[in-house]
Amino acid sequence: MAEQLGSLARTHTCGALRPADVGRGAVLLGWVHRVRDMGSLLFFDIRDRHGLTQVVIEGNEALLETAKRARSEFVVAVIGEVERRSDDTINKELPTGEVEVRASELRILNEAKTPPFSIAEDQNVSEETRLKYRYLDLRRPQLQHNIGLRHRLTMALRKYFDEQGFYEIETPILTKSTPEGARDFLVPARVHPGEFYALPQSPQIFKQILMIAGFDRYVQIARCFRDEALRADRQLEFTQVDLEMSFATPPLVFEIVEGALAACFREIGVGIRRPFRRMPYAEAISKYGSDKPDLRFGLEIQDFGPLFKASPFGIFREAVEHGGTVRGFVIPNAAKYSRREVDELVDLAKQAGAGGLIYTRYTGEGVQVSAKAIGEEGARKALEAAGANKEDLLVLASGAPDHASKILGQLRLLVAKKENLVPAGKWELCWLTDFPLFNWNADEKRWDSVNHPFTAPREEDLHMLESDPGKVLAKAYDVILNGWELGGGSIRIHDRETQAKVFRLLGLSDEDARNRFGFFLESLEYGTPPHGGLALGLDRICALLAGETSIREVIPFPKTTQAVDLMCNAPSTVDPKQLRELSIKNI
Ligand code: AMO
Repeated sequence: MAEQLGSLARTHTCGALRPADVGRGAVLLGWVHRVRDMGSLLFFDIRDRHGLTQVVIEGNEALLETAKRARSEFVVAVIGEVERRSDDTINKELPTGEVEVRASELRILNEAKTPPFSIAEDQNVSEETRLKYRYLDLRRPQLQHNIGLRHRLTMALRKYFDEQGFYEIETPILTKSTPEGARDFLVPARVHPGEFYALPQSPQIFKQILMIAGFDRYVQIARCFRDEALRADRQLEFTQVDLEMSFATPPLVFEIVEGALAACFREIGVGIRRPFRRMPYAEAISKYGSDKPDLRFGLEIQDFGPLFKASPFGIFREAVEHGGTVRGFVIPNAAKYSRREVDELVDLAKQAGAGGLIYTRYTGEGVQVSAKAIGEEGARKALEAAGANKEDLLVLASGAPDHASKILGQLRLLVAKKENLVPAGKWELCWLTDFPLFNWNADEKRWDSVNHPFTAPREEDLHMLESDPGKVLAKAYDVILNGWELGGGSIRIHDRETQAKVFRLLGLSDEDARNRFGFFLESLEYGTPPHGGLALGLDRICALLAGETSIREVIPFPKTTQAVDLMCNAPSTVDPKQLRELSIKNI
């Protein structure tokens, strides 16, 4: 039988008591964490989001009887006196570990079924079970910590942006499609049969309109929705720290965003070096094979194309002859790899899309190369050019330059993991700049925006916008942390004519552009200040700062990679009556 809380008020949280409180009375309210029943003596830890406190029950039969009924996850009230623990029972791991509460009264406020997994012990529980019983999962200290960190980061960001003169402004959730490259979530409009709202992929157009409206500096902790394939760093709905500034230049955006990230890092007690390193996109692709390079370790990709111009190895020679190249990187201390280990590397390269992978290393007498046809001379020259020494292994792949680098870039990440080359506690932040404005979409025979269609081209490239769009670089930038894209943004187009030209290059007819973005094109004609901004992924920042490898660990109620909320079983079918009201036929 559950007892009542009545007018009982908590005097301390379960993480608060210290030796200075010894001798005081205390009322603690929380969950039974772990029980140790020793017959005439019983200990349990009481838990709330602030921590754990040890409770002792002894010398009172009625009290012991109540305590013996209490199981893990029962909700209890403990009334008692704070005592110092004996020296041999002090728990240095716990902030409350020098004291305990000797109970004079114990109320069981609510019972609990045996949970499907232990909250107190770190067990290997399937993610499916964790997400189904998310309310229990969230009780675990790790998730309590993560959600607490998320709160503190959000508060630190709000404070920072307020100090920098930003207004926090809300933008609509029921709106019109915003092109960010993913599919939209659509919401049928009941009162307009056959018409739909779209959930925002980002507040992009609204924040630009807020600049036109004269708000100068805008920020929003904004929920965004994208119907895209889910991964460790992607959810259908996620949170951006979205910002925009009038009269912005890239250095100003960098300074503001670096300040915001420094404020986040302060919350975990880390000072970060500023300004962040900057790297052109082309360099990131060629050296690291990625637009989100992990700079915590070396393994830089080098180009060996010129060495293989006249190679006896047809694959390399022809790659170079046809505008491709040969690239590779040195794996330190990997000359000792067994046949099986190098075969694994070759397999990994093939999985990443390589036709093959050549490896070479010095041997006692000469040079060993995996494909004889390459010849020792070419291999030796490559080893020398790479600066490899006797202990190292050089891996080489050929193909179109970016393709070769991207394959090696994937291999680089796997090798770093295998060789333990990623130092713990290292934070490498970097700006990626000078992205191309467009990508050629060969299937649809038109250009796609690399970023989104509102990104401004560099002034010096404007003249090529129509004659050679593939060469135009954008005033766009991404901020990268330890190989994750934390955020991206750009300086925007602020004149109607350039914006209309870009829409045309993206294959939108003037009529389509008017239908979809007419209101925006028109707004550009009413005195639009030059402006720019960026959006940070709050979930990603939290995950990295919490030391997690998936954003699901910092989102209270995430969806599985199958896009399902296992706790409330969403998505689900709806009543046919609801569909009729929405003028939707069930197909
Ligand atoms: P972008 O599309 O690069 O830019 O998004 C900005 C940041 O949002 C985060 N993010 C995601 N996080 C979790 N799940 C997702 N599905 C997801 N998609 C994106 C990433 C990313 O860097 N409007 C522009 C910003 C601008 O130009 O100002 C935009 O949305 O951390």
